Amino acid sequence: MDSNEKLPVLVTCARGVASWLADEIKQLGFPANGVMESGVRTTASLNDCMKLNLELRTGHRVLLQIAELRARDATMLYEKVVRLPWPDWIHPTGHLCITSSVENETIRDSRFANLKCKDAIVDAMVRDAGQRPDSGSDRTGMVVHLHWSGEFATLYLDTSGEPLSKRGYRKIPLEAPMQETLAAACIRASGWNGESSFVNPMCGSGTIAIEAALVALNRASGLTRGNFGFMHLKGFDGKLWQELFQNAKSRTTDRKTKIIATDNRPGAVEAAKMNAAAAGVADAIEFGVCDYRATKLPEPPGVIMLNPEYGVRMGDEAALAPLYKEIGDFFKQSCAGYFGYVFTGNLRLAREIGLRSKRRLTLYNGAIECRLLEFELYAGTRNP
Ligand SMILES: C[S@@+](CC[C@H](N)C(=O)[O-])C[C@H]1O[C@@H](n2cnc3c(N)ncnc32)[C@H](O)[C@@H]1O
Repeated sequence: MDSNEKLPVLVTCARGVASWLADEIKQLGFPANGVMESGVRTTASLNDCMKLNLELRTGHRVLLQIAELRARDATMLYEKVVRLPWPDWIHPTGHLCITSSVENETIRDSRFANLKCKDAIVDAMVRDAGQRPDSGSDRTGMVVHLHWSGEFATLYLDTSGEPLSKRGYRKIPLEAPMQETLAAACIRASGWNGESSFVNPMCGSGTIAIEAALVALNRASGLTRGNFGFMHLKGFDGKLWQELFQNAKSRTTDRKTKIIATDNRPGAVEAAKMNAAAAGVADAIEFGVCDYRATKLPEPPGVIMLNPEYGVRMGDEAALAPLYKEIGDFFKQSCAGYFGYVFTGNLRLAREIGLRSKRRLTLYNGAIECRLLEFELYAGTRNP
């Protein structure tokens, strides 16, 4: 395929994140043609997709549109897909994975649509290239995505492969880690740009602090990933990728922002340190083992962001209520001059904080509806 041909591109993201993703896309010099609930439409070439995959912090998958067609059922889908010029886009060897989102009344299990789509592609490859790739659910090779709604089907080359939330730096994930892209969205939503202090008590595996450090150092989020979907597609320009990658790697900033990450479990802090080292930002973060209330805050202004446990089992909620109340007290008594943020998936627990929030943003952690609460923490009472 022509690697410079501009095509429609859909960048997907978690629900609630699309407006931040649209900002990022525009900052990278691409248009935001449409902002949807969990994705942004833009226009880009295969070569441009390398940059999007390397730089985007809040996007999940960069999907390059190759065909639109109408199909009432699976037979018709096969007939239309088999006619497409697959050898232009994929290699006859290697590994192919089909993913899909399907809402068609004739299809009960989307895996059936995947299978029909895969059959059509491999039959086309045998016919036109004399050979066919292996296929399966592994997303580390070529990935084709089918979006099929009613009669309308769109086919995309998934230039990300594994979703971009898998940055590759989380060597030790611990329990209940936050998705990297969601942590990045919370930071973006806070408006923090690396110019004031950033404090992340209850850091767990360190995701929020690591994403903050990536922002402060202007370090591309894709530098820790060795593999992307685009590398396996026809038209991949390895030399151009190396140039992009090396340029991003050598980009430096001498910002001296303080980023602090603490947790009361020594094992969590050890994991966070190792993850930060894998992300190439270990030197940018000061780590400490302590109760969150003992975290030493630098002079304001700054951002303090917490992601406390929110409990999924019965009884968890009652046990966690005092913790949320104490977070409110801590914000009020010890964080004057800061903007405080709490990210939680339990809206009842959020109320226990007992402070009036300035903003409440709805974000989704997979299927869980979460809130990012913002508190403006004034010194003393706020009287004019
Ligand atoms: C939901 S996890 C944070 C996950 C983190 N955002 C990540 O991506 O890995 C909550 C963390 O709060 C820590 N924690 C709970 N109570 C604490 C306290 N009183 N002081 C400090 N840390 C605490 C736990 O050890 C746990 O690592």
